[in-house]
Amino acid sequence: MRTQVAIVGAGPAGLTLARLLEVAGIESVVLENRSREYVEHRIRAGVLEQGTVELLREAGVGARMDGEGIVHHGINLQFDGERHHVPLTDLSGGRSIVIYGQTEVVKDLVAARVESGLPLLFDVDGVTVETLDSERPRISFERDGTRHELECDVVAGCDGFHGVCRTSIPAGVLSTFERDYPFAWLGILAAVAPSIDELVYAHHERGFALLSLRSPDLSRYYVQCRPDEPLEDWPDERIWEELQLRTALDGWTLHEGPVLEKGITGMRSFVVEPMQHGRLFLAGDAAHIVPPTGAKGLNLAIADVHVLAEAIVDRYASGSTTGLDSYSDVCLRRVWRAEHFSWWMTTMLHRLDGEDPFDAKLQLSLLRYVTSSEAAARSLAENYVGLTTL
Ligand code: APR
Ligand code: PHB
Repeated sequence: MRTQVAIVGAGPAGLTLARLLEVAGIESVVLENRSREYVEHRIRAGVLEQGTVELLREAGVGARMDGEGIVHHGINLQFDGERHHVPLTDLSGGRSIVIYGQTEVVKDLVAARVESGLPLLFDVDGVTVETLDSERPRISFERDGTRHELECDVVAGCDGFHGVCRTSIPAGVLSTFERDYPFAWLGILAAVAPSIDELVYAHHERGFALLSLRSPDLSRYYVQCRPDEPLEDWPDERIWEELQLRTALDGWTLHEGPVLEKGITGMRSFVVEPMQHGRLFLAGDAAHIVPPTGAKGLNLAIADVHVLAEAIVDRYASGSTTGLDSYSDVCLRRVWRAEHFSWWMTTMLHRLDGEDPFDAKLQLSLLRYVTSSEAAARSLAENYVGLTTL
């Protein structure tokens, strides 16, 4: 088999890249080791930056997002028993965010690919990436018990944090930058109308809580927990109790409902540099992870493949590799801005076990500053909706 671009991984990065290439008339094959069912039911974050929304729309996969996504113009920061509104749109020159689950984005992209009849292979095993230094990289994989070889011009490593592409790069090429956080998020999807109009990020002495949503009758709520806590320690009643305590506000009620899903997500910051080696280009979680506070993961993945698609298109159109050569440098500017923003939001809002009282005072002072100074709020807003100047 031969194609122009071999894409490993059918998450948002791989599927969006495949779509952008299709629109530009470039061939690709997408290889995914999970089933379609699995990929379409993984619950992930749900905040799309305006730039992400525009790109999906331009790629012709925005119809359901435009119909069902919910446009938000602000978020709330809660601390010291008060809730403060941050008017993102007013502070960012009119930009906004759209609440639409990553799971739904993935479903739309898979449906578009299937409708186009282009290769998207699920349930592929044992993917290996070889001869990256040559003109003809080669991917080998197993499907239905048979080994296949795929030759291509470019490999897009969109296979997430645990994928094989990053690890196929020879030792000594990549530098790794990382930070672990001593806490995690326990997230629930609940069949109840959201009790809030816009997201609430709550700082509380019992730990952080986040109120988000998926639709007019689905709420997505999170509480900070320890990374090593078993899910069994968190029966639904305990989760609701913590959510109630951490988000309580006079004159406002958090409505409870049946919990449809729950899971614990660890938090880490991670970047490898460069995001490319020979003809392999890493995109999305394969190259970088952010903690979820600030909802940058999906948006960064889409921003990467936007840069990559343009570079590949240019390579075929003009023969120039300038875009491909600078891929990593261009992406890393946005990546590091998002790394800083996510770390900043995370450290401002979470409680550390055995926290130094000095740190706790600094957090509260920062929260008060961000919610009372227009300059500080504007900085949060432009990062949250996605910087356009990078
Ligand atoms: N071979 C083929 N596919 C693989 C392999 C492999 N060896 N390893 C992993 N994959 C697949 C995974 O099953 C997954 O479907 O690659 C895909 C990677 O998708 P994501 O993990 O969703 O990563 P990405 O597309 O970069 O999107 C980043 O996902 O984790 C969230 O918060 C993150 O929102 C961000 C987004
Ligand atoms: C979500 O809705 O899942 C969500 C929202 C905001 C975040 C993270 C996750 O910062």
